[in-house]
Amino acid sequence: MADGRSVASLPAELETRRQEIEDALLAVLPAEGSEPATLVAAMRYSVLAGGKRLRPLLFLAGAESAGPERLQADAIEAAAALELLHTYSLIHDDLPCMDDDALRRGRATCHVVFGEAIALLAGDALQTLGFELLATRPSGEARAARRSDAVARTARAIGVLGMAGGQALDLGATGAEIPAAERAMHLRRIHALKTGRLIRLSLELGALHTGADADRLHGVSRYGSALGLLFQIADDLLDVTQTSETLGKTAGKDSAQEKLTYPSVFGLAGAFLERDLALAAAREAARDLEGDSGLLAGLAMFAAGRDR
Ligand code: IPE
Ligand code: IPE
Ligand code: MG
Ligand code: MG
Ligand code: MG
Repeated sequence: MADGRSVASLPAELETRRQEIEDALLAVLPAEGSEPATLVAAMRYSVLAGGKRLRPLLFLAGAESAGPERLQADAIEAAAALELLHTYSLIHDDLPCMDDDALRRGRATCHVVFGEAIALLAGDALQTLGFELLATRPSGEARAARRSDAVARTARAIGVLGMAGGQALDLGATGAEIPAAERAMHLRRIHALKTGRLIRLSLELGALHTGADADRLHGVSRYGSALGLLFQIADDLLDVTQTSETLGKTAGKDSAQEKLTYPSVFGLAGAFLERDLALAAAREAARDLEGDSGLLAGLAMFAAGRDR
């Protein structure tokens, strides 16, 4: 992996779960053609454009590897909620006031097609739909305490000390003069917040809904933090090493916009090294979990070696 060219694929057991996630997304989104028509069309446009569906897959992997119980069938809609929250973050990330991007998931971005106001609202409505699902799935009185825990954890993970906070730090660092001694630490914090927190949360919620105890949850969180950092280092690298066509989003835009990224702080070779260190940390965290952690180790390989 040291040359950075190898391409990893999703562990096979998760490939089969991806279709279930697509079905769940179709089931929870407002129906095609329903009102308010433009807003519904924008929500469906961005969510149903494909994407790796990594966060719901992590929910399922966290559940499978962690808890003593089986997931209730409608928990897949809680997993789908994470994809809605992620897609909300992408729509807003692409807005002209943020990264000003015209291409996402191989399509024109939401605001390019529907206008900025509707894109903003599509993000808002996807976020609230995500929370509604987390507050109601998996269903049943016996699951109420876990659902409210999931809602609170999610709010923290994507709020001011989570994704939204990380996005603010990312924008603040863009084009800014940051003292050399602080750059690496600041970058790590941005990545842990803007991307790492939602990835870690996805694993935690899966574990939570299969009854993982505090120790197990702690182990899963440690793996999730490592995977989240790894995932965003790889994203920074892909911006430099891949074409827009492969990525389905604009390549080369980080340096054009003077973003603080792993390649900009460590150089390309240094960024690959950091990626491999993060991969080793994620695999070690997976190994430290009791039971079969092969799926989580495979996901780390995928996060590091993917080509989009
Ligand atoms: C892109 O996320 C934004 C980041 C947090 C790096 P993904 O790489 O998971 O994008 P999709 O969901 O597959 O489109
Ligand atoms: C996005 O990071 C993180 C979130 C959407 C929260 P980037 O700005 O690097 O993501 P891409 O490269 O546009 O997908
Ligand atoms: Mg961004
Ligand atoms: Mg962006
Ligand atoms: Mg990026």
